[in-house]
Amino acid sequence: MKLGRLNHIGVATPSIADSIAFYRDVMGATKLHTPFDLEEQGVKVCFVDTPAADGAMNGTQIELIEPLGENSTLASFLAKNPLGGQHHLCFEVPDIAEARSEFEALGKRILGPTRIGAHGTPIFFVHPKDMGGMLTEIMETPKEGTHWSN
Ligand code: CO
Repeated sequence: MKLGRLNHIGVATPSIADSIAFYRDVMGATKLHTPFDLEEQGVKVCFVDTPAADGAMNGTQIELIEPLGENSTLASFLAKNPLGGQHHLCFEVPDIAEARSEFEALGKRILGPTRIGAHGTPIFFVHPKDMGGMLTEIMETPKEGTHWSN
């Protein structure tokens, strides 16, 4: 496994609108993206950028996720955590297929097929029970120019 940048922290919320106001007014975020629906994953998504370190291209993002419809997998998370909260971590890797094979070889349970995620790059999720309790998203590092398309 070639560990890359911590791309984003997924944060579940019952209201993206309320969370946007929180990150803007309380946390001082100045770069908030436009929310969009990710139908195939049953979520509404909004990225909030944190500033990049000196010399770095990108800071780590907060990925706000709100259930889209009643069948969303997020609905059960919010039933247990009504205020929302930390939902997953997402790490970049240079090669998604290689990373998947490595996790599989270690017997880690991967949730579903590799698919296109919220950043328009291939992703997969690894079961929290095999990852120290943390739902983990693995994402291929975005190619130049695609990272901030939303
Ligand atoms: Co994510």
